[in-house]
Amino acid sequence: MPVITNIDDLKRLHKRRAPRMFYDYAESGSWTEQTFRENTSDFDQIRFRQRVAVDMTNRSTVAPLLSQDYAMPVALAPVGLTGMQNADGEIKAARAAEKFSVPYCLSTMSICSIEDVRAHTDAPFWFQLYVMRDEEFVDNIIGRAKNAGCSALVVTVDLQILGQRHKDLKNGLSAPPKLTPSTLLDLSTKWAWGLEMLGTHRRTFRNIVGHAKSVKNMNSLHSWTAEQFDPALNWDTIARLKEKWGGKVIIKGILDPEDAKKAVEIGADAIIVSNHGGRQLDGALSSIRMLPSIVEAVGGQIEIHLDSGIRSGQDVLKALAMGADGVMIGRAYIYGLGAMGEKGVTTALDIIHRELDTTMALCGKRDVTSIDRDILLVPEGFEGRWS
Ligand code: FNR
Repeated sequence: MPVITNIDDLKRLHKRRAPRMFYDYAESGSWTEQTFRENTSDFDQIRFRQRVAVDMTNRSTVAPLLSQDYAMPVALAPVGLTGMQNADGEIKAARAAEKFSVPYCLSTMSICSIEDVRAHTDAPFWFQLYVMRDEEFVDNIIGRAKNAGCSALVVTVDLQILGQRHKDLKNGLSAPPKLTPSTLLDLSTKWAWGLEMLGTHRRTFRNIVGHAKSVKNMNSLHSWTAEQFDPALNWDTIARLKEKWGGKVIIKGILDPEDAKKAVEIGADAIIVSNHGGRQLDGALSSIRMLPSIVEAVGGQIEIHLDSGIRSGQDVLKALAMGADGVMIGRAYIYGLGAMGEKGVTTALDIIHRELDTTMALCGKRDVTSIDRDILLVPEGFEGRWS
C-alpha cells in the first residue's frame, strides 16, 4: 500500500481501482477542458504571506455554514453516480462526512436514494435538486427530502442542458456499465470493484427509478434524463420551489454578479459560486477568479460558498481569504472514495484539514473565521480585464 500524503495520491489510486468509464466521468471537463484546467491553475497563481513569531497555539478550523458549526467550512459536493465509483458510495461518503463533522450533499443523480442515505446516517444531510419538467417528480422528491430531514435544499441552476464531455460519449457511460468487450477487458483488471458491486443491490439511479412514472428500467432512464432536465428553468420557478421547500435554500452554479443579485432577491440563504467543476460552459472563467466581483455584488447579505478546482487545504484557505464563507469539494473526495471507499473519503478530509490548519498557522492565523485577504498575495489584475 503506497503512503498517501496528498489528494493526488488518492487520484492515482482511484484511476487504478475504478472502471475507466467512471474515473473518466469524474476527471473530465466539457469540450476543450479549458475551464476545468483553469479552475485549478488559477488557484496556483495566488500566494501566501509568510508571517512569523505569532502565537500559533490553540488553532481552530471550526466555522459555521448556514448557522451550524462544522469541523471546517468544507462540504462534500453533490456528485452524480457516486455509487459507481465504489459500491454504496453515497452512503460511505455521507458517513465519512458525518464522522468528520462536515456537511454532505446528496445528488438527485445518485445511486443510493435519499432514503438509503437517511437510513445509514444520523446527521442531517443536504439534498441537491435538478429541476425536471416532470413537476410531480420534483414535488415528490422535495417531499422525500423533507421526510428525510434534509437540512438544506441545494438547487443546481447551471445544468439544464448538458455540457458535452467527450470521454463519456466515447466510453458509453452508463450505470451499471454495459458489458461490451472493452468494458469487460477493463473490468478484468478491477476485480475488487466488481466484487463489491456484486455485493450490493444499489446499481441504478435509485432516486429516480421507481419514483418517476415513465422510468421503469435503465434503458428508458437514459432518454428520460436527456428529455427531463427543464430548459425553461427561471427565477420564478426557483422562487416557487423555495416556497414549496420551506427551509434553507442554496443556489448552486452562480458565476456572475448579476445572477448572484437575483439569488439574493429571491431570498436564497446561500449561493455556491461554481462552474460545475468545468463540466458545463467551457470558456467560462474559474470560480476563484469570479469570486471577488460576486462577493462585492452580494455585499454580505447571504452566505457565499465556492467550488470548482479545490484540491488542497491551501486552496480552501485561498477561497476563504478571497471572501468565501465556505467551500465544496467534488473530485477531491471522489478520488478518495474511488481509491479506498469510506476510508478514502476520510483520508481526503484529513489531508485537506491538515493542509488548511498548517497553512493558516504559517500565515500567522489561529482562527479560520478570522481569515481575510491580508494573508494573500494576489497578482495584480488577477480578476482580469474583460469587456
Ligand atoms: C458533479 N457535479 C454535480 N453537481 C450537481 O449539482 N449535481 C450533480 O449530480 C453533480 N454531478 C457531478 C459529477 C461529477 C463526477 C463531478 C466531478 C461533479 C458538480 C459538483 O457538485 C461540484 O460543483 C464540482 O465537482 C466542483 O468542482 P471540483 O471540486 O470537482 O473541482
